[in-house]
Amino acid sequence: MRYAPLTQAIQGETVDAWDIHFKATSLKERDPSVIILSIGDPEFDTPTTVIDTAIEGLRSGDTHYVEIEGRDNLRSKIAEQHQIKCAQQVTKDNVILLAGAQNALFASSMCILEPGDEAIVLQPMYVTYEACIQLTGAKLIPVAMDKENNFCLDVEALEQAITDKTKAIFFATPNNPTGVMLNKQELQLIADLAIKHDLWVVSDEVYSHTIFEGEHVSIAGLENMAERTITLNSLSKSHAMTGWRVGWAIGPTELIGHLSNLSLCMLYGLPGFIQQAAYTALTDTDALADSESMRLSYLRRRDRLLKCFQQHPKLSCITPQASMFLLVNVSQTGLSSQEFAEALFEQQKIGVLPAAAFGQCASDFIRISYVVDDKQLEDACNRIDSFMQQFSLAECS
Ligand SMILES: Cc1ncc(COP(=O)(O)O)c(C=O)c1O
Repeated sequence: MRYAPLTQAIQGETVDAWDIHFKATSLKERDPSVIILSIGDPEFDTPTTVIDTAIEGLRSGDTHYVEIEGRDNLRSKIAEQHQIKCAQQVTKDNVILLAGAQNALFASSMCILEPGDEAIVLQPMYVTYEACIQLTGAKLIPVAMDKENNFCLDVEALEQAITDKTKAIFFATPNNPTGVMLNKQELQLIADLAIKHDLWVVSDEVYSHTIFEGEHVSIAGLENMAERTITLNSLSKSHAMTGWRVGWAIGPTELIGHLSNLSLCMLYGLPGFIQQAAYTALTDTDALADSESMRLSYLRRRDRLLKCFQQHPKLSCITPQASMFLLVNVSQTGLSSQEFAEALFEQQKIGVLPAAAFGQCASDFIRISYVVDDKQLEDACNRIDSFMQQFSLAECS
């Protein structure tokens, strides 16, 4: 049978990067000593009150078709919380619930890009951006963040990448995999360019609740930016709810109308009992306390990993300000990041991700996810120490 050309656009070249992760998960089924630090899925349980609400919702019959954009109370709550950050008028009409930030990214790309457009993405970038953009027929233009400078914005590179075909700038802040946040000055530079060239900005903020240092700024809150910004967020990371698929897009009301039409034929709204649970996640004191305790655990684990890597002169880290990831530069070991990740898996049964999957500028790095408990993390640090001995021995001989 024949398939449409768009099937090519969604194939993505980054699939190879997951090889080690797939090997590690398959080995773990037989060998529990394998430690998987390659995926961004929190190991915490979803807060109990959220689960209870979903179960009650199911039992009380909240299992029918729902409003496509989502229920008013949930949309209003999301709008209210976004407004606090942006200090400007946001209402439920600026919000649509979608199936995770992923689905919101996909739907937003479909509504703003068309064949012939160019979409700039700040790299390193989350791996699915490529397919989402290519599906629309637009061309992805990567703009590398400045890796010599803690992956901060290279504004000159951004400015040079803009052409008369540019339609949008996409980025994630905090970033996956660097864990670095764009600060207000950097966001203002992006905003100035977006306004000057009349561009959309798609700001993916799924890690904005998992912050360790600094203040998270939403570009939508900068002057004259709300009308051209789509903010994406979800409960996946903040509440360990990756499998619930609760996410949303916030943007101009006209865009929300288009997204709603797209959702009508693609998703038909999020299940009612899940929306009830999502409302609990955003409002219930216990659920919020659970989310905060997750953040503190990530912070503790980040610091443990930093301590481990800082002991090894051939490794250097980017200190994440947020998220659940750490990038480690392995180029001084003489191995490529792929070779390093393979050797770490073969010798120590630890699965990590070669970061080239996130863009060329990250190719010297591996990404470590700190989504395992303290005991496993301690074990991982000890194994990394043993693994690194071969490199210090090579230095002495
Ligand atoms: C930067 C970024 N955006 C979006 C997503 C997708 O999140 P969700 O589970 O809300 O679809 C992820 C997941 O890892 C991510 O890292």
